[in-house]
Amino acid sequence: MTGEARPRVLLMHPILDPGPALLAEAGCEVVAYPAGAPLAEDAIRGALEAGACRGILSQVMDPVGEPVLAAPGLRIVANVAVGYDNIDLPAATRHGVMATNTPGVLTDTTADFAFALMMAAARRVAEGDRFLRAGRFHGWAIDMLLGQDVWGATLGLVGVGRIGGAVARRARGFGMRILYTDAVPLPEDVERELGAARVDLATLLREADFVSLHVPLTPETRHLIGAPELAQMKPTAVLVNTSRGPVVDEAALAGALRDGAIFAAGLDVFEREPEVHPGLLELDNVVLAPHIASGSVRTRSEMSAMAVRNLVAGLRGERPPNLLNPEVLG
Ligand code: DGY
Repeated sequence: MTGEARPRVLLMHPILDPGPALLAEAGCEVVAYPAGAPLAEDAIRGALEAGACRGILSQVMDPVGEPVLAAPGLRIVANVAVGYDNIDLPAATRHGVMATNTPGVLTDTTADFAFALMMAAARRVAEGDRFLRAGRFHGWAIDMLLGQDVWGATLGLVGVGRIGGAVARRARGFGMRILYTDAVPLPEDVERELGAARVDLATLLREADFVSLHVPLTPETRHLIGAPELAQMKPTAVLVNTSRGPVVDEAALAGALRDGAIFAAGLDVFEREPEVHPGLLELDNVVLAPHIASGSVRTRSEMSAMAVRNLVAGLRGERPPNLLNPEVLG
């Protein structure tokens, strides 16, 4: 390592193997974030200063804004996530702090889960489970818990980056027609491979049977799906969100689901995690998951390793493989 022989690193939350071994191998001294301390910027800054830490291994629930990034001696924030809306990237750059994420390793695992939510919401899987456990299954009935077909339906992808693209590949196997919106069109050969057509959001909302969200959270995407957008969707449509909660106006969604304006929703993320809008908790036509789309044993372990490799590279004065703000090096 350049600088200290044993740089100190603030570990906000435990990570999975082989993360801890990689930290030890690299000679990092790990300072665990105090158990029970609030996940608040002042407290994180305090822990950084008390530990004289040069790096942070953060996760999606850790707010890493100006007060944290201005900590003396801080060199790198390595997020154990592909999303980094919890980090104020311009502030990191202003303070010369590198920020990194974990792209790629969770693409297919997250796409699997988006598809699982789509299937579960369309075919009423969680509702059926509750129905049966409540002793309400008294034998086959022709009209029992009827859902919507996934095969052959139209899928609307809002954002078609790595994860959106992986959802599209799965949808091909279900014979789905694919529409997408994205600021940047897919290359023509990829559009052809996926059989995907780029349309505007209004067309997508009007025509899709399934709308799946795959955009990062930015000021532009906050409440991208609110009451006016939900009103444009088909009454038989299903909304799936595995991106970030605030992309959807949760109160408006609860209203649309309650009033039957759309058929169902599958949500892995929420506006104010870990809180969930109480209106959603009352409804049977929404499948709720606790932000676990990337949660397979293999993927979470790869995310842990990738974040440590980024951190160690930054502390060694090398360019981390997944640097989000290369300007800091310039
Ligand atoms: C991410 O990586 O951004 C997810 O939300 C957590 O896996």
